[in-house]
Amino acid sequence: MYSYTMLVNKKNKLKKELDIDLVMVSKRYSLKDIYLERKCRNAFNLMASKAYGRGYYLIANSGYRSFKEQELEIKESIENEGEEYTDKYVAKVGVSEHHTGLAIDIKSGDTSPFIISREYLWLKKNAFKYGFVLRYPEGKEDITGYNFEPWHYRYVGKKVAKFITKNNMVLEEYIEKMEV
Ligand code: DAL
Ligand code: ZN
Repeated sequence: MYSYTMLVNKKNKLKKELDIDLVMVSKRYSLKDIYLERKCRNAFNLMASKAYGRGYYLIANSGYRSFKEQELEIKESIENEGEEYTDKYVAKVGVSEHHTGLAIDIKSGDTSPFIISREYLWLKKNAFKYGFVLRYPEGKEDITGYNFEPWHYRYVGKKVAKFITKNNMVLEEYIEKMEV
């Protein structure tokens, strides 16, 4: 069932595509057509505009992806980065959070790696206030099944995001603890 805390990972595969209320991200904060679930999109727009007001430029680089789009993502990643990298960073079709419309990849206006950007540091401190969590943090690879991705954020709502962030958890741990 669709929910803001729904878990889609290597062990929890979607059987079919979800029916989602998708809305486009403002072109102020994206360079292409990016869609997210309505509440997630509104939260991102708000977060990006607050960040912008303080001198940080958050750009949505990827949002909702259909099964077909994920297939293309995998293909392109294999071509550009190879199989090994792709396995660690790109989900197979049906197990990507991007299918939920609740995941967003963020980049800065800069071309240097996101991990060393001011925007990443800002997100580390502030993302939870808008309902987002860093989904694949360093040190949790065994639980999430993916390498550290400083750019991938997941909308879970403000209350849950605060709890997860303050307790240094990932969504898998939250769900197990809360049995939601
Ligand atoms: N990069 C994440 C794991 C995805 O492809 O959904
Ligand atoms: Zn992502």
